[in-house]
Amino acid sequence: MSKVAIVTGGARGIGRACAHALARQGFDIALVDLLVPEMQRTQGEIEALGRSVSIHEADVSDFARAGEIVAAVTRQHGRVDVLVNNAGRGNPTGILDITEEEFDRTIAVNLKSCFNYIRHVAPLMKAQGSGRIISMSSLNAHSGGVTAAVSRFSYAAAKAGILGMTRALAKELGPEILVNAICPGVIETELGNSITRARGPELARGIALQRLGKPADVANIVAFLAASEPCFITGQDFVVDGFQYNV
Ligand SMILES: NC(=O)c1ccc[n+]([C@@H]2O[C@H](COP(=O)([O-])OP(=O)(O)OC[C@H]3O[C@@H](n4cnc5c(N)ncnc54)[C@H](O)[C@@H]3O)[C@@H](O)[C@H]2O)c1
Repeated sequence: MSKVAIVTGGARGIGRACAHALARQGFDIALVDLLVPEMQRTQGEIEALGRSVSIHEADVSDFARAGEIVAAVTRQHGRVDVLVNNAGRGNPTGILDITEEEFDRTIAVNLKSCFNYIRHVAPLMKAQGSGRIISMSSLNAHSGGVTAAVSRFSYAAAKAGILGMTRALAKELGPEILVNAICPGVIETELGNSITRARGPELARGIALQRLGKPADVANIVAFLAASEPCFITGQDFVVDGFQYNV
């Protein structure tokens, strides 16, 4: 039986790269996203690598829908080996302007979404005696905001929440389930496009590796945390930013 990974926000950007990297490690993939045509494109690319891919249209902030998707993947594969909580969205509104609804939505899409999927996969992983959960936080969780045009405090709060959740759940769900998080810096994707197009060279000058990140830079470490055996790493977060010291 092949192993299976659920990747939220897997239609494009970092999630798409994670799905590719996991497929190359031999995982079958379940993509979850709002964007159906983009998911179908990614599905085609990964099927060409010889892996099976299912696509699931969903808003990750929907708890009940997360349960339906995890149940569907389990019916199809009999197991869930890896969950990548990647779906997320920035929010550039400052504290003096943000509405309550906007704040709640940022927390729901970036943080509660992780709870929604972990709540449904954790019992399965416990029962099968193994599992890996990797959630996409952000450098913002540490820095309080790298590029204010993309995201400010509500996004930083949600992404910092992922780090607390990761540490607590590593204790609660171990030793069977390993729980880690990734903190990307500025990565060239659709989410960051407007800012990287306008300020790319300027941002790169403040990065030790003198370039912006690529989705594959993040996907490589996700695949490592998902597949390496043995693995003695849990409850950690990994900054993937080329050392962006000038923020
Ligand atoms: N690009 C960066 O510089 C950067 C930096 C730090 C963290 N991140 C995080 O990495 C993750 C991926 O970002 P990306 O840059 O690839 O962005 P992206 O916009 O290119 O991709 C995000 C994907 O998530 C999906 N998505 C967004 N909201 C959703 C929802 N409510 N329900 C279902 N799917 C939803 C989008 O449709 C899209 O396919 C996000 O969590 C983001 O916060 C990105």
